[in-house]
Amino acid sequence: MPYTSNMLSDLEYNQQHFPTVIKNDGSVQTLAQAEQWLAKNLTPIKKELGCTGAILFRGFPVCDAKSYDAFFSAFGYDNFTYKESLSNAVRINHTEKVFTANEAPKDVEIFIHNEMAQTPFYPSIISLFCESAADKGGETVICRSDTIYDELVKAEPELTNKLESVGIKYTTLMPCDDDPETGQGRSWKGTLSVGSAEEAEEKLRSLHYTWQWKDNDALVAQTAALPAIRTLQGGRKVFFNQIIAAYLGWQGVKENPATALCFGDDSELSKTFLDTMVSIAKSVSYNLEWQDGDVAVVHNHLAMHGRLPYSGERKRKVLVVLGRE
Ligand SMILES: [Fe+2]
Repeated sequence: MPYTSNMLSDLEYNQQHFPTVIKNDGSVQTLAQAEQWLAKNLTPIKKELGCTGAILFRGFPVCDAKSYDAFFSAFGYDNFTYKESLSNAVRINHTEKVFTANEAPKDVEIFIHNEMAQTPFYPSIISLFCESAADKGGETVICRSDTIYDELVKAEPELTNKLESVGIKYTTLMPCDDDPETGQGRSWKGTLSVGSAEEAEEKLRSLHYTWQWKDNDALVAQTAALPAIRTLQGGRKVFFNQIIAAYLGWQGVKENPATALCFGDDSELSKTFLDTMVSIAKSVSYNLEWQDGDVAVVHNHLAMHGRLPYSGERKRKVLVVLGRE
């Protein structure tokens, strides 16, 4: 199947064409052919990804964790493992690279975010594969981080500039043991890859976090100031963070944002500013309605992602791989 390069100039920076969709025209029938096709067209595909931030591959012969691992491997990205990350979601590995997207219950919405942007270590690429779509709902929501920035700086120039210059601090509560009932239930032992409280403190110190121990051996940790707006190569500015996910999805934060979020200079983020971010993001979001076998590749700096709640008998199974360029 030819990759039509004239698509590229049309699609650059064009909100109307987000995400890019590449459908198999039937000529790629086996996994080996898919790998060959990707290898041959890698340069324009990566260029496209660097422009629009997300590509959906539909109709390719990818059916399980193993074939997805092979399909994604053809992109040649370096591996970013869940184990080495500081992600606070509970996940299960299927292959060394492939793991479940999030073990949160089906009625829980995962609000949009850049992957692991609440930590100093994050992947530059996140890919999702739908092995089995839900009966109803369960769309992956994606939206462009550069568009959000452009709209936010128009709506709230002073606060947006402040956010850019001082950054953001996140405070998270990590339980002693994994709690799969929430979207952020990974234990501090798992999150920090440590076995004891002493090791946890040492790790937090090295990350420049501050912390407090709570009842039931839970740990509350606050990051150092992390960038919330980044400037990419070529000058594009992007809204790159977990602010919306924390505000709407973390327990008790909507009611009292200061429990999880503050500017990097410790001043408060107003609800008005947070609500503006939410409404802008909603207005530019795209709901990716999964079909079995779909693979999405998302540039983590250029696009945010989330997950809508779902229902029905069918088990929704969406798997993830992280990569670095
Ligand atoms: Fe995510």
